Order: sequence, then structure tokens, then C-alpha cells
Amino acid sequence: MSFAGKLIAWQRRHGRRGLPWQGTADPYRIWLSEVMLQQTQVSAVIPYYERFLRRFPAVAALAAASEDEVLRLWSGLGYYARGRNLHAAAKAVVAQAGFPETSKQLEELPGVGRSTAAAIAVFAYGERAAILDGNVKRVLARYFGIDGWPLDERLWPLAERLLPRQGVEAYTQALMDLGATACTRNAPRCGACPVANGCEAKKTGRTAQIPAPRPRKALPEKSVTWLLLRSRGRLLMEKRPAPGLWGGLWVFPEAPGRDVRGHCRRSFGCEIASRTPLAPLEHGFTHFRLHIRPLLCQVAQKPLLSAPGRQWFAVDEAAAAAVPAPVRKLVLSLAK
Ligand code: ADE
Repeated sequence: MSFAGKLIAWQRRHGRRGLPWQGTADPYRIWLSEVMLQQTQVSAVIPYYERFLRRFPAVAALAAASEDEVLRLWSGLGYYARGRNLHAAAKAVVAQAGFPETSKQLEELPGVGRSTAAAIAVFAYGERAAILDGNVKRVLARYFGIDGWPLDERLWPLAERLLPRQGVEAYTQALMDLGATACTRNAPRCGACPVANGCEAKKTGRTAQIPAPRPRKALPEKSVTWLLLRSRGRLLMEKRPAPGLWGGLWVFPEAPGRDVRGHCRRSFGCEIASRTPLAPLEHGFTHFRLHIRPLLCQVAQKPLLSAPGRQWFAVDEAAAAAVPAPVRKLVLSLAK
């Protein structure tokens, strides 16, 4: 039996069932799930996917929403450019009166790369298109024993050659499931793999070396002090400019230097009565590590003014706003 044939047979017995985006050919739902599943595990995506669909049952509702609301629902899922691109793509789809119907055209949508476009086209239209996401790269690199870098240019032609004539949906789902459940990065379960017999990495005892880790420079580190200005149970937050780090999200103001009192007087028109350092946090971005020193500042008197891009949030509002994970964590620690 062929590679694809073995995977399809395996999928029927061992594949994942009942995921909320399975059992539909609605391109809107499939697109939404595939974008959420980029760099994010199924278990983390499910509650976000369900909340999104309740709020935006169709692409027109998503296109009509404000970016702030979209980011609020995305908040905590990370990689926020995905949320901004999702909103932009929804608008494009509505403007062109429907979803693109081929992988090539889907790839024109913001936030939809070659592999995501192929996954959508497979599940929505049954197109014979090859995917190559992180999990699939690992499966194919091991199967063919490819340990160099970059992998992509060598793996794309192989991914295309393996496509079955029929059953591309089951095959594609099988590849994803195999990578997520058996051909895992650490301690792969080769005993559960339907193509272990032909696997070059297994044959040569190199599953731990393949795929070779991406050559990485040491991640740069950055430190910031966040000012948690609190007044009458409210917290001051600023909206980050998009595009950019956390663009469109609400984040605490940063202290530009040591003179916190002077800075708050000049920039926010408020007097600081007391300052309490809170436990530091760390946050990993793709390109650097951020060390966050939160400084809780009790404001003596201040005008409860909000300026454009600057707003005083009640603590419970702040936790539900479009904020990144470390901000939410701090807000929740203050709500206790
Ligand atoms: N990862 C990416 N797309 C997926 C899907 N449709 N099902 C499960 N995991 C995935």
C-alpha cells in the first residue's frame, strides 16, 4: 500500500474525531480554524473557536465588527497579527462577495500562507493540495531522513508527490493527526505509526536528531517597567499602534526612566501617592524575551480623563478587554 493509503487506513481507526471544525465544508469555519491552529495546539484553540463562532456565525459578522472587538476575542491566543489579518481577510472576502475557491486564490488573503491555503482548499473543496505545517514537516523529514536546513524547499515537492488521487481530506487530516499524536517531537511513538516500516529516521535510529533544530541565535532579552496606575479601582492602559508588537491591544504604559513621579505628572497629569513593585513576569516572543517589572502606582488625585488611545479601565473591564496574556495576568492578580 502507498504512504497515503496507509495513512488513510490509519486515520479511520486512530485519527482525531469530533473536533469542532470537522464535519463541515463551510470555508468560513475551516479558514477560522486553520488560522487559529497556526502555531497553536488544538486544546488551546477549541474554546476560542467556539466563542468566535458564537459571536461571528458568518464572515459578514466578522467583517462588520470593530478590530478592537476581534482582538478582544483573540486575546490570550497570542500572535496577534493573526487576529488583525483575520479581520482584514473577512473584509476582503465580503468585498469580493465570497470565499476564494482555490488554494492559489486563498493564498492571497492576509494571514493565509501556502500550507494554510492548501488545508482550507482540501477541507472545504476537496482540492488536491499539499500542506506542510510544523507537524507535517517533522513527519516527512523523518520519513525521508532529511536532516539539513532549510527543510521547506526539499519537503514541498515530496509533500506534493505523496498526495493521493482520492481521499485527500482523510489523508490531510491523517498527516496532521500523525504529527500531533504519534510522530511527536519528543519520544515519538513509532509503534503506533502506520508508515514506521519505511521511515528513514527510525531505520537509522535518528528520530531524536531529525528534524534538526532550526539554527537559532540566542534570543535577545529586553526589560521594561510597566506602570500600573491605579485610581479608584481603575487602571490606565494604552492602545499599542498597529502594526507592531501587540498592535491594537491595550497594554500598561511603560516607564521611560527612573523618574516615575515626574513622568506621570508630565504625561498623565497625575500625582503618585505610593509605589509597590509586583513580582516580575517573563514573556517569550518569537524574536526576544521580555522581562516585565510591574510597578503598582497608587494615584493621589487625577483627572479621570481618557485620551484617544488611552483609557482608564475598571479592573473587571480590563480583564475582558483586548489585552495580551501578561497584562491579563496582572489585572487578575489585582482583582483578587
Ligand atoms: N492543525 C492544523 N490544522 C488542523 C486541523 N484541521 N485539525 C487538527 N489540527 C490541525
